[in-house]
Formats: sequence, structure tokens, C-alpha cells
Amino acid sequence: MTKAKLQYACTACGASHSKWAGQCGDCGEWNTMSETIAAITTNNRQGFAGKKGNAKIQALKDIQMSAEMRTPTNISELDRVLGGGLVHGSVTLIGGDPGIGKSTLLTQTLASLSQSLPCLYVTGEESLQQISMRAHRLGLEDRGLQLLSETCVENIITLASDTLASKHGPKVIVIDSIQTIYTEALQSAPGAVAQVRESAAQLVRFAKQTGTALFLVGHVTKEGTLAGPRVLEHMVDTVLYFEGDPGERYRMIRAIKNRFGAVNELGIFAMTEEGLKTVSNPSAIFLSRHEIPVAGSIITVTREGSRPLLIELQALVDENHSHNPRRVCLGLDPNRLNMLLAVMHRHAGIAMFDQDVFINIVGGVRLTETSADTAIILAALSSFRDKPLPNDVFTFGEVGLAGEIRPVPNGQERLREAAKHGFKTAIIPKANLPRKGEKIDGLNIIAVQRVSELVDTAITL
Ligand code: TYD
Ligand code: MG
Repeated sequence: MTKAKLQYACTACGASHSKWAGQCGDCGEWNTMSETIAAITTNNRQGFAGKKGNAKIQALKDIQMSAEMRTPTNISELDRVLGGGLVHGSVTLIGGDPGIGKSTLLTQTLASLSQSLPCLYVTGEESLQQISMRAHRLGLEDRGLQLLSETCVENIITLASDTLASKHGPKVIVIDSIQTIYTEALQSAPGAVAQVRESAAQLVRFAKQTGTALFLVGHVTKEGTLAGPRVLEHMVDTVLYFEGDPGERYRMIRAIKNRFGAVNELGIFAMTEEGLKTVSNPSAIFLSRHEIPVAGSIITVTREGSRPLLIELQALVDENHSHNPRRVCLGLDPNRLNMLLAVMHRHAGIAMFDQDVFINIVGGVRLTETSADTAIILAALSSFRDKPLPNDVFTFGEVGLAGEIRPVPNGQERLREAAKHGFKTAIIPKANLPRKGEKIDGLNIIAVQRVSELVDTAITL
């Protein structure tokens, strides 16, 4: 029997509390508690082994190894973030702002997969007409895609299990979106944390027991306020998040978690009239070549996931007339900027306490690694002194609190990528110098060890 009890769940982290509070005791977010009905049912406690009592203890060496069965989606950038194709029986959560292209990407993915596997698209948001209109626009209407408009998780699972035995039984299911799905076991409204969590748990269990690959779509707002896909992250195998602005042309998908591949892998797409197109040479799109050199702009080579990416970093340093200088970062951790400004002051004698500092990563990319430290310093310095750096200069390297320049992983690869795009001068950490005998054609490499050296080098360029 169902026993209803009032609870308060945090919409940001999903923690449940018995009392309401202004701040969530688990994640520290403010104003995120919402009332939910916690119902404990006895029939939803099964593990992956199926019925209670079927589980048995086994030795590790006795477990049969079967290679991961993967089907390439034939969308190269999606395959990249998935770790080389869709793994059978895996559960993938795709999160992102509304309107960023989740439904578009999944329609294209299913259309491509449905050539080799039976696929089912379950929609709780749009009508079947809307899905079919989108498919028409994408030119995918004649693919063997199955559609279902349903929001009750029990009905979805029953329908899917019924067809499982036949050859039309779906091998890949998309749920668009998990916030619209509800389970009869709970009385709270769809989208409430408890509903999202319980419906997802049932779907994950179904996927694991039947070997069906599952995509769950989840909306996240920038503040993460909507009853969250965040609470699902630990339940699923792979978490992909859309980055970038719905208003911009380029969309990036980052793997935040992946049980079958590398994390932080970045897939890059362009939104066009014919849906999402993969971008095969991403470095080229983030470089805006200025006709004449401009102050405050520099190129750096970042490595998001498994490939190097050339990006432009811009800084604007402007006199501040209040007592509260501004530090604004787009695509970067503001704490990093504060730290670097302190290092510049302490170890190179450059004071910016009376200046506003703005840093922007061109193209809406978000940097997660520290290799852009030297670029931030050089860009800020260039803008501060209003002295442009030459167009063919690039830099990478991490900066430490002691004023030292530390090496970054895969230095060679970064150097080659920049050389390939015609850059001539590299300012890099000394420990990243190519070993003797290894040469990179046409590249003048300046190796630096200290922040003071870095600053001096910039003057001589
Ligand atoms: P959609 O995939 O519905 O976003 P989500 O499911 O993440 O909410 O659509 C995203 C946007 O993309 C929408 O504003 C319209 C636009 N779009 C195109 O520009 N070209 C296309 O071919 C399609 C299908 C959509
Ligand atoms: Mg959608």
C-alpha cells in the first residue's frame, strides 16, 4: 500500500528534508526547497537482478566478460562524446537549456540508428504532429522511427515490454523529457524531484534488465532551479550537457560523466536549417583573425577531452572609478582570474587594483583546464598597456601561486595543432619544450619559467 508523507526536497541537489528551510543543508543553495509527497511503495525496490531473492554471490573471475556492444550513431561528434558509439543497455542523460537542440539532436540520432536497430521516441512535451513536422524539416520522415506520446512511466514500460518479444521491440528509447513523466506510485505533480527520480529509476531498471539503450532528456536552467536532472546523475551511465547559448550558432556537448569513455570530451555542432551539423575542424571556428593586431586578444591551445582546440581569449582592462573594481569572466572561473591578478601583482609588480578586468572566451566555449593561465595574463597585460601582441603568437601554460609557470599535459600535440594553423611564435612553459631532436617546423618557441619572464617576453615581442 502507498503511504503518503509530506517531505521537502531540494530542487538543486535532490536531498530530502523533513522540515522546510530557506537553505538546503546538503548543498547550501538558497530557496530551493519544495514540498513533495514522499510515498514508499513496496514494489519499486528491485535491483538489476529482477525479482527479490534471485541475486547470488559470485566470484569476480567467474563473471562472463562480454565486450561492450556498441552501435555507432554515425553522428561523429556524438560518437566522440559517447566514447565511440552507443553502448547497448546504457542510460544516457542529456541536459541543457530549453531550445538548445536536445530534441533535434535526438531525432537525428534515432533516425540514423533506426536503420540498424528498432527505435522508439517517447514524447511528453510535443504532439506527434510536432515531432513529425520537425522530422520533415530535417528530411528524416521516411526512416523507420516509432513514436509514442505518453507520460505515465508504467504505460511506457508496459508498451515497450509487450513489443519486446516481436522484432519491432525497441532497442533504443528516447524519453523527451524526463520532467514530463510521472509514476502512478506517487501523487506529486510531474516534474517534482520525487517524480523525476522515481520515474527515472523505473526506466533505468527496465533498460538494464532488457538491454535497451535509453536516452533521458532533462531541462536545466542556468541556475539549475528546475526540478533537476542533477538528481539523476548518479543513476545513469553517461551524462551529457549542452553548452553554449541557444542564441548562438555553435552548440557544444560535454561528457560530464561517462562509464564507457573519457570525461570532459567535447562534441561541437552547428545549428543550421537542416538541424545540427557536426563541425569537423573546430579550431577554425573559434579563431577570429583580426586584420591588424588588437590589444587584449591572444590565442591559446586548450585540450578539452582528447583533442587540442585553438581558441581566442580576450581581455579588457579599464580604469575603475568606484572603490569596487569589477572582475567579470565569460567561459572561465572568476576565482582563477582573481588568483592570476594577485600573482601578477606579487611576482611581476603589475597592479590592477584600480582597474575593471573583463575576460571573454570567444565562441562561447567554457574552459575547464588551467592551461589558459598564461594567456589570461598576457591578454590582461596587453589590454592594460594598450599594446597589441602580434597576430601569430600563441601561448599555453599553468601559473602557480609561487609565480612559477608549470607544464601542461600533451604540450607537443598543442604545439603541432597551432603550427598547423600557421602560428609562428609560441610562449610556453620550459618543461613543455620539445625534446632534443624533435622539431616542429616553422615554430619559434620561447620557453618561460617565471611570471616575471612571461611579462618581460611580452614587451619584447
Ligand atoms: P529543440 O531541439 O526543440 O530544442 P530543445 O529540445 O533542446 O528544447 O530546438 C532548438 C532550436 O533549434 C529551436 O529554437 C529551433 C532551432 N532549429 C533550427 O534552427 N533548425 C532546425 O532544423 C531545427 C529542427 C530546429
Ligand atoms: Mg525539446
